Amino acid sequence: MKRILIIAVAFLIAAAPSFAQVSIDRKVDSLLAIMTLDEKIGQMNQLHPDIHDLETEIRSGKVGSVLSVVGTEWMNRLQKIAVEETRLGIPLLNGRDVIHGFRTIFPIPLGQAASFNPEIVREGAAIAAEEAYHEGINWTFAPMLDISHDARWGRIAESLGEDPLLAGIMGAAMVEGFQGADPENISGIAACAKHFVGYGAAEGGRDYNSTNIPERRLRNLHLRPFKAVADAGVASLMTAFNDNDGIPMTGNTRLIRDILRQEWGWDGMIVSDWESIREMIAHGFCQNEVEAAYKAAVAGVDVEMVSETYIRNLKKMVEDGIVPISVIDQSVGNILRLKFRLGLFDNPYWQPAEAPSSEKALKTAQKAAEESIILLKNTNALPLNAYEIRSVAVTGPLADAPADQIGTWVFDGDVTRSVTPIEAIREMYGDKVEIIYDPILNYSRETLPSDAEKRIRRLSKADVILYFAGEEAILSGEAHCLSSISLQGGQEQLGKLLKETGTKVISIIMAGRPIALKPILENSDAMLFAFHPGSMAGPALTRTIFGEICPSGKLPVTFPVDEGQIPIYYNHNSTGRPSDGKEILLHDIPLNASQTSLGNKSYYLDSGKDPLFPFGYGLSYTSFEYSDIRLSKTEINPDESVEVTLTLKNTGKMAGAEIVQCYIQDEFASAARPVRELADFKKIFLQPGESIEVKMQISPSAMSFYDINMNYSMEKGRFKVFVGKDSDAPLVGTFRL
Ligand code: NOJ
Repeated sequence: MKRILIIAVAFLIAAAPSFAQVSIDRKVDSLLAIMTLDEKIGQMNQLHPDIHDLETEIRSGKVGSVLSVVGTEWMNRLQKIAVEETRLGIPLLNGRDVIHGFRTIFPIPLGQAASFNPEIVREGAAIAAEEAYHEGINWTFAPMLDISHDARWGRIAESLGEDPLLAGIMGAAMVEGFQGADPENISGIAACAKHFVGYGAAEGGRDYNSTNIPERRLRNLHLRPFKAVADAGVASLMTAFNDNDGIPMTGNTRLIRDILRQEWGWDGMIVSDWESIREMIAHGFCQNEVEAAYKAAVAGVDVEMVSETYIRNLKKMVEDGIVPISVIDQSVGNILRLKFRLGLFDNPYWQPAEAPSSEKALKTAQKAAEESIILLKNTNALPLNAYEIRSVAVTGPLADAPADQIGTWVFDGDVTRSVTPIEAIREMYGDKVEIIYDPILNYSRETLPSDAEKRIRRLSKADVILYFAGEEAILSGEAHCLSSISLQGGQEQLGKLLKETGTKVISIIMAGRPIALKPILENSDAMLFAFHPGSMAGPALTRTIFGEICPSGKLPVTFPVDEGQIPIYYNHNSTGRPSDGKEILLHDIPLNASQTSLGNKSYYLDSGKDPLFPFGYGLSYTSFEYSDIRLSKTEINPDESVEVTLTLKNTGKMAGAEIVQCYIQDEFASAARPVRELADFKKIFLQPGESIEVKMQISPSAMSFYDINMNYSMEKGRFKVFVGKDSDAPLVGTFRL
């Protein structure tokens, strides 16, 4: 009788329509009030079907969420156990890594960032959410907002680039795409910002490695995109694997409780990374799993992914008065709040519905891929005119690699949806030009076959060679780091041999990271860089190569000359001895030169100071003219913005988009500021001859930073403004605060 009563009360509190108007927090409190300690700790436990007997565990009330259960029928079966066979019937969350698509795959996040188009990112995430929801998922572990300056780090593929403003804008767009517009009433699936925080600064670019980021830098750089998505209403957040300055992020009370919760007032749910609570033992931060559970719970990690230290240890620690019950209540409150925001108490089951249209998804994926392609070099070789050329040769390991072109993190990707470049070229231009296809290399790490020269001779008979090089998907992503970022296998050699034939060579690179491109660039008449563009790589690249569209992507990360320049990024501080551009490089150093004769400036003797390509770089088939650039004010008061206005004209012959970029430098400050920082950008599409007035804002947040006293402030003084097509944009004016 008692049990029935409790269930009835819980049901009324949780699900009755009469409670609809009651705020979510009231519902959370009411539910918390009737939960036992066991039920509460059960909510904090997340299990995986490969490791745990989910049905038994859920039935015993020991599970609040699962991950990677794919399939509506399966998930509904588990949900039914949670809803009908546990005392309070609290429904489950089911998380999955839906990173850049589910069945239909969009460009890797780094490629999406290259589009500088938040709208296309939002659309892609909405489609991914729809496809994932259809398979029983209601929570994704994305977006990844880690700022990385290191192309060796495999997870740079999953990042949204090196700039905190860009990563924040793109991250917020992804969150909105996944969740829908109202964070209190999530209509899609819950998003999860990860990895909190600093994970992308792993020393040496080796995954999981330690980081050493001082608090000011954490706040001015790494935390910024997280703040942007917290403000945008991201539903959850994942702690990172790394330790920063000795404190693992999963046990970092200062960052979680003081900054995220107290300062930012963010009330979403925090999940650990996979076993990252137990891994605090391997870090040498906790002696055993009891201590690990204690430190993570007290730091404020609400949900433990997989390692089960909470379920085994928290109850006793609460009973012994070691862990205050308030800690548990806060965490469970955060978990329940998300379940209410998702509407799970009203609607716990996945309803069988028509599979989302793959046609629409593929169309959006194609647009996203098109916008992510960056033109890095063009000596009048692109675009190809299908009416002028008679034949094209297609070669390279990525010309027909349906699984590799979709990149890392695609557990559920439908490879049969991939259209490869060779398929697309045949389909779209097969009736207009003769196509000679021979990959020569079957995969990116393969060395040249013994008959390569003969086969290359055959390819060289064509009017132009399209060389699809790059990286297989397996070479980037989690735990897939490299100490060399050159093209693997025989690819550079193949590029050289192709060039030596005298036939025009167009290189198209698909990769999960920036590549040291110098050798291959030298052997290319033109180069397109596409990261891993996803399912529709083929049509997107073919349309770009044949000039149906203009490439418009811009680099979301600095491309180093070689890995020796890493870490390299545009928004660095100045040294006391910045290079003056008069670098003397190795081959110019006279014999017996004196120690100080090279100028004592900050650069490498072999690779200078400049990267191969700066952040924001990307060419076009058309040309854009910037004119009449003016600032709205030359003096401002604190909390005022400056507006930058300019006229942009498409002076070329093709329609195309330009990404207009505005950077600022706070010249002198109580703690030195970067040489320049992106303050705003606009992506503008123009017809040939068309011009438009473009307005950009330098907002107080672009001018503010954590100062010498760790206060967030705008400091008095002069700001320089740079406007143009990449991060080397020229100085266009100054203003004073
Ligand atoms: C570990 C990864 O670091 C994280 O990003 C991912 O979401 C989880 N595994 C779950 O697969």
